[in-house]
Amino acid sequence: MDKFLIKGPCKIKGTVNISGSKNASLPILAASILFDEMVEIKNLPNVRDIDTMLSLIKSLGFNVKQNKNSNSVVIKKSKKINTFASYSLVKTMRAGILVLGPLITKFGKAKTSLPGGCLIGARPINYHLNALKKLGMNYKIEKGYVNAFAKSKLTGSNIFFPKISVGATENAILAATLANGKTILKNCAIEPEIKNDLTNFLNQAGAKIKWIGKRTVEIKGVKSLKKISYSVMGDRIECGTFCVAATISKGNLKIKGFDPKLINTELNLLKKVGAKIKINEKLISIAGPEKIKPIKNIVTKEWPGVATDMQSQLMVLMCRANGKSIITENIFENRFLHVGELQRLGADIQVKKNKAIIRGNTKFVGAEVMSSDLRASVALVLAAIISNGKSTINRIYHLDRGYEKIEKKLTKIGVNIKRIS
Ligand code: UD1
Repeated sequence: MDKFLIKGPCKIKGTVNISGSKNASLPILAASILFDEMVEIKNLPNVRDIDTMLSLIKSLGFNVKQNKNSNSVVIKKSKKINTFASYSLVKTMRAGILVLGPLITKFGKAKTSLPGGCLIGARPINYHLNALKKLGMNYKIEKGYVNAFAKSKLTGSNIFFPKISVGATENAILAATLANGKTILKNCAIEPEIKNDLTNFLNQAGAKIKWIGKRTVEIKGVKSLKKISYSVMGDRIECGTFCVAATISKGNLKIKGFDPKLINTELNLLKKVGAKIKINEKLISIAGPEKIKPIKNIVTKEWPGVATDMQSQLMVLMCRANGKSIITENIFENRFLHVGELQRLGADIQVKKNKAIIRGNTKFVGAEVMSSDLRASVALVLAAIISNGKSTINRIYHLDRGYEKIEKKLTKIGVNIKRIS
C-alpha cells in the first residue's frame, strides 16, 4: 500500500493548475448512458473514482476509449448493452448508483448493487429510489441489489426532495431527461457541479432543463440526445484545498483553472482569518497571514454554504488559528475521522456530537498517521506540510480516489513529499 513521506515545515509558493472536477465528471459520465451517439468528455481528472466509473460504463457494454494524456474519454453505445451494475464496482464508489436513473429511463430495466454505507455515515439512497419511483420505476431490493424495471417509458412528475441530496438530484435529472412529459424537481441540490455543469452538458446535447427557482428545476423530456464534446469544470474542492495550503503555510500561491466565483464562500472565510486574496477572472492569488484568526463557528451546509468536503481542511486551518473555534458538521453524521489522526500530530480538538471544538495555536509535530477517507487524508497532508519533522501518511489510496497527481503538484510548489510504493 502506497504511503507519503512529508518533511515539514514547508512554505507553499508558485502556481498550481486545478484539474477537472471529479464530482462534476461522475454524473456527466453516467449521463453518457442516455446517448445513442458518441460522447466526448474533456478535462477529465485522472483519479481512481473516474477509472471506476469508466469500468462500470464499460461493463454495461459501452465502448470506452480513455486518453489519460489528454484527460479525455470517448464513449459510444455498442449493440450489446446489459443493465447490470455489479457489487464489485459500486461498492468502491457510491456514485456508482448514478447509473440507475440513466439505465431505467433509457433501457427500462436495471440491476444495480446497493452502494452501502461508508465510514463517514450510513448514506442511504431512499431519495434516489423515491424520486425514480415517482417517474415510473418499480423496484425490489434483493440480495443487496436494486432490481428495477419500468413497464413503459418513464413519465414526468412533480417531486419534492424531503432533504437536499446531490446524488438524488442528479439521478432524478438524468432519468427525467428522457422521460415523457414534464418533471418538476423541488428542493434540489444546486451545487455548481449540478446547476452549472451537468445542466449545461445535457442542454448542449439537446436536453430541455431549466432552473425556474432557487432550488427548483423543470425538465421537459426529449426523445434522444445528440453527439457532444464537453469540457468539465475545474474541481472546487481541490481549489479550496490549495487555498488552505497557502494560508496555513504563510505561502503565496497562484491558482489557475478554476472559476473563482464558484468558491466565494470558502474564499470569504479565508479572508476572514486573514488571508490576502486577489481575484481576477480566471486566477486566484492567495497569501497566508502571519497570524490566523479563529472563527467562532464554521457550519457545513449545502451549496452555497461551506462545503462538507472542505471541513477537514478547514479544521487544520483552525488548529493554526490564534484562539478557539468550532466546526459544526451538518451533512454527514460521522465525518470527524481525521480528528484522532490530527491529534497524533499535536492538534487539540474535542468532538461533541456534530461539533468539533478546536483550540488553536497548535505546533504540529511530524508523526505516523493513517488515512480513513478521501477528505480526511488530505487534511493529514496539510497538517504534515506545516509540521516540524517527518510524517508518514499511510493508506493514501483514499487520496488517489480524488486528487490528481497530488504529490507532483505539491512538489512543484515547495512541499517536500515522496510517495513510497
Ligand atoms: C455528494 C458528493 C460528496 C459530498 C456530498 C455532500 C459526489 C460524487 N459526491 O455525495 O463529495 O460530500 O455530495 O455535498 O458528488 N441522504 C439520504 N438519502 C439519500 C441520499 C442522501 O439520507 O437517498 C443523506 C446522506 O446520508 C447525507 C445527505 O443526505 O447525510 C447528503 O448526501 P448527498 O448530497 O446525497 O451526498 P452524495 O450525493 O452521496
